[in-house]
Amino acid sequence: MLIETLKSAARTRLSTPQMSFLNSHRKTIVRLAGLLCGPDLCKLAVLNGTDKWADHWYAAHYQLHFQPFRKRKINLLEIGIGGYADPKAGGDSLRMWRSYFPNATIFGIDIYDKSSHEESRIKILRGSQADQVLLRQVSERAGGFDIVIDDGSHVSEHVVTSFQTLFPLLRRGGIYAVEDTQTSYWPEFGGDTHDRSDVRTTMGFFKSLVDGLNYSEFTDVDRAPNYLDQNIISVHFYHNLVFIYKGDNREGRSSFARKEWQR
Ligand SMILES: C[S@@+](CC[C@H](N)C(=O)[O-])C[C@H]1O[C@@H](n2cnc3c(N)ncnc32)[C@H](O)[C@@H]1O
Repeated sequence: MLIETLKSAARTRLSTPQMSFLNSHRKTIVRLAGLLCGPDLCKLAVLNGTDKWADHWYAAHYQLHFQPFRKRKINLLEIGIGGYADPKAGGDSLRMWRSYFPNATIFGIDIYDKSSHEESRIKILRGSQADQVLLRQVSERAGGFDIVIDDGSHVSEHVVTSFQTLFPLLRRGGIYAVEDTQTSYWPEFGGDTHDRSDVRTTMGFFKSLVDGLNYSEFTDVDRAPNYLDQNIISVHFYHNLVFIYKGDNREGRSSFARKEWQR
C-alpha cells in the first residue's frame, strides 16, 4: 500500500519547489516510510532501492531466516556496499538492514571508498574480501558478527576465502549468507558450468559442506571431523542464495546406529 502510494507519487508531475523539498528531505522521508514498513523486508528493499527484491527475490528468504534476530542488538556485516567506483553510489542495502534491525549495528565493506555512506548505526570499511588479515581485523574490531552477507565480487575464490576466514569468527547461533551463486557456473567469475562439484567454485564448495552435517554417522572411523563438520548445523540453498547456520553439531551418533540396523 505504502509502496504503491510512493510509486504513484513518483508518477505525478511535481512542481520545482515540491521536487526540491522532496530531494532535500529524501533521507528523512525514506526513514519515516521505513518505520511504516515495519518488519516487511520486501517493502524495505524496494523503498531503499536495493535489488534484493523485485530484481532478485532474496528479501523474502532473508526475512524468513533473519526474523529471530530482528529486535536483537546484533552486529551485521555486508560485503559489497554497491555502486562500484562511484563513491556516492550504493549503500542501499545497508540502509535497508538498518531499518529492518532497529537495534543492530550494520557494517559494510567494499573495495572502493564508500565512506560517504557512514551514518548512525552504519559503519563503513574499505578493503578486499580476499584479504584474510583485514577480515580478521574487521571482525575483531567489531567484537564479532551475528550475520555476514557476501554480496561482493562474486568471484568463487573470494567467496570461499571470505567464508573460510569469517565463518570461524562468526558468533555461535549466527548465519552466513552468500548471494548470486549463479556466478559459480561462469568462468569469468572463476566458476565452472561442467564440473559443478569442483570445490574451488562457490556452489561446489557449499555443496561439499552438506555431508559434514552427518559426519558422526560416517563409517570410516579414522576420519577426524573438521571445524566445519562440528560447527555447521544447517545449510539452506535457494535460487542463487545460500544460508549457512553456525552452531554446535556434536550431537553424536543417532540412536538408530548401524550395528542395530544389521541385527
Ligand atoms: C552487487 S554490489 C553490492 C550491492 C549491495 N550489497 C546492495 O544490495 O545494494 C557489489 C559491490 O562489491 C564490491 N566489490 C567488488 N569486489 C570486491 C572485493 N574483492 N571486496 C569487497 N568488495 C568488492 C563492488 O565495488 C560493489 O560495490
